[in-house]
Amino acid sequence: MNNYKKINFKINKNIEGSEGKKHFYLETWGCQMNEEDSEKLSGMLKKTGYIRTNNKHNADLIIFNTCCVRENAELKVYGNLGALKKLKEKNSELIIAVCGCMMQQKDMAESIIKKFPFVDIIFGTHNAYKFPEYLNRVKQEGKSVIEIQDKEEGIVEGIPVDRESSIKAFVTIMYGCNNFCTYCIVPYVRGRERSRKPEDIEKEISDLVSKGYKEITLLGQNVNSYGKDLEPKMTFAQLLRQINTIEGLERVRFMTSHPKDLTQDVIDAIAECDKLCEYIHLPVQSGSSNILKKMNRIYTKEQYLELIERIRKAIPNVAISTDIIVGFPGETEEDFEETLDLARKVQYDSAFTFIYSKRKGTPADEMEDQIDDDVKHNRFNRLVEVINASSAIKNKEYEGREVEVLVEGLSKNDDEKLMGRTRTGKLVNFTGEKDSIGNLVNVKITKANSFSLVGEQIG
Ligand code: 5AD
Ligand code: SF4
Repeated sequence: MNNYKKINFKINKNIEGSEGKKHFYLETWGCQMNEEDSEKLSGMLKKTGYIRTNNKHNADLIIFNTCCVRENAELKVYGNLGALKKLKEKNSELIIAVCGCMMQQKDMAESIIKKFPFVDIIFGTHNAYKFPEYLNRVKQEGKSVIEIQDKEEGIVEGIPVDRESSIKAFVTIMYGCNNFCTYCIVPYVRGRERSRKPEDIEKEISDLVSKGYKEITLLGQNVNSYGKDLEPKMTFAQLLRQINTIEGLERVRFMTSHPKDLTQDVIDAIAECDKLCEYIHLPVQSGSSNILKKMNRIYTKEQYLELIERIRKAIPNVAISTDIIVGFPGETEEDFEETLDLARKVQYDSAFTFIYSKRKGTPADEMEDQIDDDVKHNRFNRLVEVINASSAIKNKEYEGREVEVLVEGLSKNDDEKLMGRTRTGKLVNFTGEKDSIGNLVNVKITKANSFSLVGEQIG
């Protein structure tokens, strides 16, 4: 997914009449699924009268929505939690809540409360919708609440969502993952695959379109297995074609696709449906068939390359991104060179590169031949070089082209300029009309940088 970063939400600046109201501070680590969960936590809190703040020091409630996909993500949570002790000492009324994937791990809630006894509420991913109830209990009973639900329930619809953007939105189409890649903790903390009903998804998108949203990203750990659990069954390609008929919607993206499940009918849908963007995120994880087998990825290097060829043939100018892990147990120099070779052959537009991180409870954690840190770091740097070179080549192809850009706002580094993204997901900074924010415009690309494009609006 696009991907594991620390997320800073925009804060509602309109705090007129906020005197006397309670403020909450919400920090999120992890992928878009976590980001979406946080939009729901925020939505529920705002409904009960809370106001969002970006200042921990004036908050009445602090929530950390955590990630555990790599050890780094967890270390950050520990560091940030430790720093809250002083705030709690200053303000005993302060309520501290910790939730998200990290809390779903065995014995984690107990360990958190032991290390950080000032935490008031702990809950997991499966019962996040009950957060307002837990908050009330803490306020009324003055005792901490720790509720982790081991098993996922059905899907809870109708939770209010406080969205970060008013132009583009994430819409979750399915939860959980059944794949059990041997390095990955996600299936253990997010449960089995559950698809939302197509009518609920379409209603949510239609409501967003009526509020002016132009772009939707459909989310799921493995969107290509959408609908297998529904009655009647439905394929992801069918869902895409149905969504493509929603009037007023301009762009549809989706993530993440597992190479073993990306079927020709999905590729054909992207090629044929005007709203489906020419962009696919297709995590390869490794270029060595040997390592792919150990990872339980169910495809070989050759099969992946053949899939890329079919995608490129069917969808001209498609942008392809990926996730790659270096230093998986047993990865030899030859295995790693297979990864470099694959990356050079595919010529990715971009890639999220990760150093393998041991996760308790996963099969890879128990494997022999764990790789030394310095070897991992060396491989990581060599891989990043190859990826950056191909991103630069791919961006260069845009020079002189006219592209459609959805204008998202002012440029980060120059507020005389606008920024937006192409259908292929490229970031463009350009000179143009400020009143085009929120609209689709045509931009002529004048220059390509390694990670973004520069241009001027032409209509
Ligand atoms: N170590 C390193 N990277 C990991 N990912 C998942 N689990 C691990 C791990 N244990 C990466 C994969 C996945 C992305 C979201 O995170 O590349 O696609
Ligand atoms: Fe993790 Fe593999 Fe599922 Fe992705 S498909 S969430 S990498 S188990």
